[in-house]
Amino acid sequence: MKAIVFDEVGGPDVLRLGEVPKPDVRPGMVLIKVHAIGVNFADTRFRQGTYVAKPKLPDTPGMEASGVVEAVGDGVTGFAPGMRVAAFTVKGYAEYCQAPASMVIPLPDFVGFVDGAAFPIQVLTAYHLLHTADTTGPGKTVLVHSAAGGVGIVAVQLAKVAGARVFGTVGDDAKRALVQQHGADAVINYTTQKFADEVLRLTDGRGVDLILDAVGKPTFEEGLRCLANLGHLILYGRAGGPTDPLNIATLSAKSQKVSGFMVPTVTRNFPEKTRESSERCFALMREGRLKLHIGKTFALAEAADAHRFLEGRQSTGKLVLLP
Ligand SMILES: NC(=O)c1ccc[n+]([C@@H]2O[C@H](COP(=O)([O-])OP(=O)(O)OC[C@H]3O[C@@H](n4cnc5c(N)ncnc54)[C@H](OP(=O)(O)O)[C@@H]3O)[C@@H](O)[C@H]2O)c1
Repeated sequence: MKAIVFDEVGGPDVLRLGEVPKPDVRPGMVLIKVHAIGVNFADTRFRQGTYVAKPKLPDTPGMEASGVVEAVGDGVTGFAPGMRVAAFTVKGYAEYCQAPASMVIPLPDFVGFVDGAAFPIQVLTAYHLLHTADTTGPGKTVLVHSAAGGVGIVAVQLAKVAGARVFGTVGDDAKRALVQQHGADAVINYTTQKFADEVLRLTDGRGVDLILDAVGKPTFEEGLRCLANLGHLILYGRAGGPTDPLNIATLSAKSQKVSGFMVPTVTRNFPEKTRESSERCFALMREGRLKLHIGKTFALAEAADAHRFLEGRQSTGKLVLLP
């Protein structure tokens, strides 16, 4: 089968379209004929060899995909060939991929394969940041960094659905309108404005209750400056580089909380939470209250271009590859 392969870690140019054996379905696993593949920022880190999971060269990137069940392994119940699904997977930039049954999500009829491929990581990360790692709701104010991005644009919408006041940051004025259209109460360009000053102005000096930060070094310390009393900053990525070490004592004056988050903690260990949150988010999509913004699609063979686009901070919403 065709797959994107890299033989060495490095820039986008290391990605090439190659031929690899179609996987045999293993016990407990579901084999999927892939129709669409979600591109994640973490894929670019995996390709560089700087992600938590290291490539075993030659390797294939890809953490989520949608498609049709081709076969199920021994012991799998609830899935059968022909079912439309999305999944958390590995080596997803390919014509077929495998996933443990607990990491496979049946797709409702109204969700197409492209939205299906955009669903597992960006939607469930945003949902569990807001409702598992924190409990946001009416009366709370949330700041979402990189709010036009894959996770960010979903987080803005889900925080609004929860009843929160929502501010978003973007790295480019061209992304402002998109974030506003998805419900943000204010959008700040954090490359031209001091976002903490703007947040303090918007909240009459109080600050925000929750900050979703996957940028890291450029935003973390300023975030603490505009975090309210008892506020919570969740650091769930580091697109802009790792943060400096934190002296926890500095959090005491305002009783602030800083935590980390990785969505696999939920999806691997709490399958019932994955099921419940997927159903809730599909219901919001059906009601038109959650829209998945697909910024651009690329052919599978153009995976390197998709990575350049994402790393160049040009993308909005989700990038999807089509095999
Ligand atoms: N912990 C988890 O479970 C989890 C799950 C999914 C994603 N994440 C993290 O969440 C973040 C967003 O992921 P995504 O896949 O949805 O990507 P994305 O937000 O669509 O794209 C990354 C965005 O990060 C911003 N950014 C800031 N500094 C950057 C830099 N130096 N280089 C490149 N981009 C930079 C850019 O937006 P602006 O310029 O507008 O800020 C860029 O568009 C990533 O850090 C990712 O690792 C974590």
